[in-house]
Amino acid sequence: MEISVSIKRYDPEEDDLPYWETYQLEVDQMDRVLDVLNKIKWHYDGSLTYRRSCAHGICGSDAMVINGRNALACKVLVEDVGSRIVIEPLKGLPVVKDLVVDMDPFFEAYRSVMPYLVNDEPVGHQERIQTPEERDRYEDTTKCILCAACTTSCPIFWSNGSYIGPAAIVNAHRFIFDSRDRAGDQRLAILAERDGVYRCRTAFECTEVCPRDIQITKAIEEIKREILLRRK
Ligand code: SF4
Ligand code: F3S
Ligand code: FES
Repeated sequence: MEISVSIKRYDPEEDDLPYWETYQLEVDQMDRVLDVLNKIKWHYDGSLTYRRSCAHGICGSDAMVINGRNALACKVLVEDVGSRIVIEPLKGLPVVKDLVVDMDPFFEAYRSVMPYLVNDEPVGHQERIQTPEERDRYEDTTKCILCAACTTSCPIFWSNGSYIGPAAIVNAHRFIFDSRDRAGDQRLAILAERDGVYRCRTAFECTEVCPRDIQITKAIEEIKREILLRRK
């Protein structure tokens, strides 16, 4: 089938403003949007810039706005978006070039919640035992691939870039509810601050776009509740 693909292009070192470039090309309807981008780059315009790596929804590097919705280009089929495709970089993060955004602010928020197990107690000769029920408590939030689709779809993040954002909260949740971890109170104190969970207005955009189907808004609500419970 013949499709038209409009891509928002911008090279801050060359261009005064972003502009749209449209390509007409022949593709298979079962091609993924990432295949389309590769075809454009390899056969039409080698200067087009975007991130990709695994091509199988694992690495999280090719999140972008496809026909108005955040998604991984390697997980969206042409037949799902039709013959007129519009692609933009993720919103709310500075554009480095074309579809590549500066992820530093995103990872800074992620690092601020201590996304690693904290436990100084001696392990002895055994592992830190956990029951299946304890493991299930945070199963959903272990699935995050740090693609940034959630945070950059959140209207609160667009209007205030200092909001810690749903991805950081998801990764805090993963450790706060891990029975082996001992830094939950510290993480909850960070998330109770001005730019933490209380900025969330339950817009649900994050949950709608997560390519791993993580119940993000639910995780945020669980953290809000946990902050109140531990204050008692
Ligand atoms: Fe991506 Fe989902 Fe993780 Fe957000 S929670 S960074 S959308 S995988
Ligand atoms: Fe934003 Fe998700 Fe909350 S979109 S407002 S973080 S529910
Ligand atoms: Fe790795 Fe799409 S290229 S998730």
